[in-house]
Amino acid sequence: MENKIQDLTASVLAPPSGGGGGIHVFAPATVANVVCGFDVLGFAVNEPGDEVIMRLANKPGITISKITGDNGRLPLDAAKNTVSVSVQHYLKSINRTHIGLDIELHKKMPIGSGLGSSSASTVAGLFAIKTLLGDETDPATLLPFAMKGEEMACGHGHADNVAPALMGGFVLIRSYEPLDVIRLPHPKDLYCAIVFPDVDVPTREARQIIRKNIQMKDAVTQWGNIAGLVSGLFMNDIDLIGRSMKDILVEPVRSMLIPDFYQMREMAMELGAVSFGISGSGPSVFAFTRDEETAKHIIQKLQQHLTSISIGSNAYVSTINDKGPRVLG
Ligand code: HSE
Repeated sequence: MENKIQDLTASVLAPPSGGGGGIHVFAPATVANVVCGFDVLGFAVNEPGDEVIMRLANKPGITISKITGDNGRLPLDAAKNTVSVSVQHYLKSINRTHIGLDIELHKKMPIGSGLGSSSASTVAGLFAIKTLLGDETDPATLLPFAMKGEEMACGHGHADNVAPALMGGFVLIRSYEPLDVIRLPHPKDLYCAIVFPDVDVPTREARQIIRKNIQMKDAVTQWGNIAGLVSGLFMNDIDLIGRSMKDILVEPVRSMLIPDFYQMREMAMELGAVSFGISGSGPSVFAFTRDEETAKHIIQKLQQHLTSISIGSNAYVSTINDKGPRVLG
């Protein structure tokens, strides 16, 4: 089986310089599925995102010395943490498991939010080690290692969060076996309004409740919509993007886990959203809009509504982030 993104070239790597050197990396949150494209579509946003500080250490092996922003939910044990495990897979692939690393993970986004929280951490870790070692290959080559992190986090190695977090922009996973990942164009003036209602929806559980078998007529509706969305992205046709973002397979089930999902959708559409749906496996919801003002107005009204039913929330407005991970220092 041939992966389309697997030309990792260990030979170009610079040797580690010994203890002391360090790097601070940010990797973005992502909206996976994009309503109709379950497990095959995703895009990166500008905020929120996670940060990793990584230093070379003299003692071989990986140590996680600090995690902040997780309320104690993530393991410091390097054998159990998705960041260190995916970094370890990468080091193994380039025969560098003997080096020593110290990792700090700073969670700047909620866990279990549907915004690719584990992906942002994993990608920040992988981008940090790649940069630290002077590996100049395309960041997309890290995708198989990032997918290992996803597998560990929720029991399934899907790529629709990790691929856009790594590569930036709007990404299609055309195939998993072999892996074939395509970066899509998108209208530059598309805004994304995200609201995270403060309820916990673990991806592992949100995957277990979805239907395993579907009717042919439903498949026809769904792939028509996916093709319509991808066409709309290529054609810069925001109306086509909007009318294609419909999901008859997954949303009817998962929406039950999100407080007042359909009421929030009606509100967002009435306020001028192009489309509205679940971000990843939820509970975050997102709307595409044609301008920043409409996006801000939507989050204000949705947050007010959530407050009125005693649910706290966080909200973000972003364009699509074409850069992906970046070095902060
Ligand atoms: N495609 C994945 C799912 C994304 O919907 O389960 C998880 O955030």
